[in-house]
Amino acid sequence: MSHEETSLEVTKANVRMYAPDGTPPTDAPDWIWGYDHPYLHGAFAPTNREYEAEDLKVEGEIPADLCGAYVMNGPSQRFEPVNHKYHYYDGDAMLRAIYFRDGKASFRQKWLQNAAFVAEDIAGKSIWPGIAGPYNFRLPGFPIKDVSNTDVIYYNGKLLSLWHMSGDPYQVDPLTLETTGRETLGGALKHSLSAHSKTDPWTGEMFFFNYQDKPPYMSYGMADASGNLKFDIDIQLDGARSPHDMGLTENYAILHDLPFYHDAEILRTHGRRVMGFHRDQPARFGLIDRFGRSPTVQWFECEPCYILHISNSWEEGDWVHMVGCRQEDPMPVKHAKDHHLASMMAYRRRSHVMYRWSFNVKTGAVKEAMIDELNSEFPTVNTHQLGRKTRYSFNQIIPEAQDGTLEGQCQTFNGLVRYDLETGAQQRYEYGDGVYGTEAPVAASASTQRDTSETRAYPVTFITDSNDWTSACLIFDADDITKPIAKVEIPHRISIGFHTTWVDGSEIWGDRAQSDDTLGTGMNRDIDMADIGKQDI
Ligand SMILES: [Fe+2]
Repeated sequence: MSHEETSLEVTKANVRMYAPDGTPPTDAPDWIWGYDHPYLHGAFAPTNREYEAEDLKVEGEIPADLCGAYVMNGPSQRFEPVNHKYHYYDGDAMLRAIYFRDGKASFRQKWLQNAAFVAEDIAGKSIWPGIAGPYNFRLPGFPIKDVSNTDVIYYNGKLLSLWHMSGDPYQVDPLTLETTGRETLGGALKHSLSAHSKTDPWTGEMFFFNYQDKPPYMSYGMADASGNLKFDIDIQLDGARSPHDMGLTENYAILHDLPFYHDAEILRTHGRRVMGFHRDQPARFGLIDRFGRSPTVQWFECEPCYILHISNSWEEGDWVHMVGCRQEDPMPVKHAKDHHLASMMAYRRRSHVMYRWSFNVKTGAVKEAMIDELNSEFPTVNTHQLGRKTRYSFNQIIPEAQDGTLEGQCQTFNGLVRYDLETGAQQRYEYGDGVYGTEAPVAASASTQRDTSETRAYPVTFITDSNDWTSACLIFDADDITKPIAKVEIPHRISIGFHTTWVDGSEIWGDRAQSDDTLGTGMNRDIDMADIGKQDI
């Protein structure tokens, strides 16, 4: 089916399907035209190309002390989905990495080859349904596809891919993006991992949580910098929950027990994950010794809400502060124009505002307050300052609906905002009409020690332009983000992704981080996945 033959009413109402000259998104597979689905079209349309390129074209100048890799995980559905319940969160994990070194940039794009990807690769088609189900408990592994496409962190010399539904983490070589195997912490890890595990940038230790549909419903654990599990503590909750992130300070982890969760009985009996907001229940935050020296959790109760992402957390005296993006009402209103996708699309239109929660570990007191009413998400801070007090948060701006249309309301990001948490001031940069950004990690300068200025750093973001389907990486100075200091061209369109990480060059190249060595090997080798042979099972 070609793009001229379809109506795609829901898609049209939500995304820009064509460039102004009528060009459909480049690099997308033909089967997308059989799906009226905004997250399979426009800037979200999957790309099926693996490739490498070096010495990318640059407008402006890449700072000499920007050294390392900006890596993004995200969905890029490879084969036609098994049903029309495809969800934005379902696409196969495509990793994109841009490497900066000696003022030059190179790029690599590669599939994550986890178990589900390899099985479908052999089959030459999709096998598992996505999170909208129906869950198929007869399938091997998980009843839906464990795509491992949500998050990516750096740990013990490898990238780790993570899935928001709690899945199998996979190790990836940070330079080649080759998948090297499942992360099991030497066989000691007995369960899956949620997205938003965190690696301490100073110690290399990894802190993680996991949630499940049976008692005790949550766990919290830590692994040392060499891949050894140090502890894994059961966290008893009152029922199955759907947390997405956690806070981490120098001495505490902050676990989330939020009153927006699925009905585990409906999931078991009907294979559907039906979410509900329990307004009569508080949002609970559990402070636990970060190093597992005590299994005791000190719980604090706050106003009911849901939270996807934490910007940062830190301690000041007896107070523990957590800043993040809060949803006052996570139950969205469905829009009739969205037809069969009304529920999924509604969830993508929720409002998120910057908010601060403070917990007194001595008195048990709680303070909470909104910081700003702008709708923003995917907050980041200087990568070296995780768990330490930070003044600035760098968030993606979610546009408001315009002229009664739905366009732009499916979680596209149209700008970068820097919040100054001390003065309340903001800086903003708008990407431009029809240009969409991605979570922007804040790369600490390679020339500084880790305890130097928070703004000796560079927020970096991938953008995709629906006016001509080009993509680029923007580099900002953390001191002034009102305009980028450099724009690096990416050779092919990047479909919009989820989470990202920054890996210091010293981790990737060691002592050679600032040398004149080449950035990699075998560059400029395009691989079109359509050319790879397939076989039936
Ligand atoms: Fe997330």
